[in-house]
Amino acid sequence: MTVAPLTTIRFTGESLHLLDQTKLPLVEEFISCGDVWEVCDAIKRLVIRGAPAIGIAAAYGVCLARNEQGLLDRRSAIEAIELLATSRPTAVNLFWALDRMRSVANRVPEIDLAASLIAEATAIDHEDRRMCRAIGRNGASLLDGMTAVLTHCNAGSLAASQWGTALAPIYCLHEQGRSPKVFADETRPLLQGARLTAWELSRAGIDVSVICDNMAGWVMQQGKISAVIVGADRIASNGDAANKIGTYGLAVLARHHGLPFFVAAPSSTFDHSLTAGYQIPIEQRGRDEVAKPGGQTWVPEGVDVLNPAFDVTPHELITAIITEVGVIDRPTAETVRNHFAG
Ligand code: MRU
Repeated sequence: MTVAPLTTIRFTGESLHLLDQTKLPLVEEFISCGDVWEVCDAIKRLVIRGAPAIGIAAAYGVCLARNEQGLLDRRSAIEAIELLATSRPTAVNLFWALDRMRSVANRVPEIDLAASLIAEATAIDHEDRRMCRAIGRNGASLLDGMTAVLTHCNAGSLAASQWGTALAPIYCLHEQGRSPKVFADETRPLLQGARLTAWELSRAGIDVSVICDNMAGWVMQQGKISAVIVGADRIASNGDAANKIGTYGLAVLARHHGLPFFVAAPSSTFDHSLTAGYQIPIEQRGRDEVAKPGGQTWVPEGVDVLNPAFDVTPHELITAIITEVGVIDRPTAETVRNHFAG
C-alpha cells in the first residue's frame, strides 16, 4: 500500500503556509506567514517543529525578507537569517539551513538574489525528502520482522518532509505491508507523541497505541517492545544525541531490558564542531508549558518548575544511528567519522 505523503510546509513565493501543529489533532488548519517575523514566531510557538522541518521553514522564511522598499536585498536577507537563528537553539538543522542561505546571500549578485534564495530553500526542502526516504529504506532493514517499536515525541512527516526520520522506516515497512505496531510515548509537557505521532500514524493506517511517558518501563518489562526508535535534534561528532526530553531515560530503560535503541537522523542533524553531547545547547522553555497545560493550573503558584526541552543520550546507549548514508553501528567518534568519510 502507498502512504500518501503529508505536506505541512507550502511556500507560494509571497507567503509560507504551515500546518499549525499546536492545534492538532483537533483542528487541521494552515497558518499563513507573510513575513520573517511571523515565521520566527511560528517556529518559537511550535506551530512548526521537529529539527528538519524547522530548518526548511526557516530557509523559506529568509525568502520573505524585504527592505524598506519592499525588496529582497542582501542586507534584509542577512538580517532575516540573524533573526531566525534566535528562534530555537538546539536543532542544528536550523543553523545548517541558515548557513546555506547565508552563503547564497553573500555569494550571488543582488539582481539574482530573490530567485537564488528561493532555489536554495527549495533544494533544502527536496533534499530532506530524499534523505528521509533513504533513512526509511536503511532503517527498514533493522526493524523488519519486529512486532512492536516504541517512539518518543514526533519524528515523522510533521517533523520533516514527507516520511520524517524515526517514523520513515515504519512508513517504508508499511508500504510493504509489514509495519510493526507502534507505541507512542505521549511526550510531556507538549504531547507531541499523543497529539502528533498518533495523528499521523493512524491517518496512514498504522497500528499505534499511546502510552504515558511513565509507562515505558512497564511495557518493556511486559515484553511488548522489540526496539526503541527516536529522532534527534543535534548529534555531536562522538554520536551523543540530543532529542526530546525523556529520550535519555528511554535509552537507559532499553539498555536494562536488552532492547536495541535506534536514533534516525539525516546528516544535517550532525554537528561535527562539537566533540561531545554536553556541548549541545539545551533549550529551556517557559514555566506554563509544565505548570498550566491548556491554561489550567496543575502546579501551585509560586512553585518552581523545570522545563528543559531536550536531553542528551550518551552514544554508549545507542545501538545504531540510521542516516541517509547507511547505519552507524555502535556510534563513537571513529565510527561517525568513517560513516561520513565514505
Ligand atoms: O520540541 P520539538 O517538538 O521540536 O522536538 C522535536 C524532537 O525532539 C524530534 O524528535 C526531533 O526534532 C527529530 S524530528 C525528525
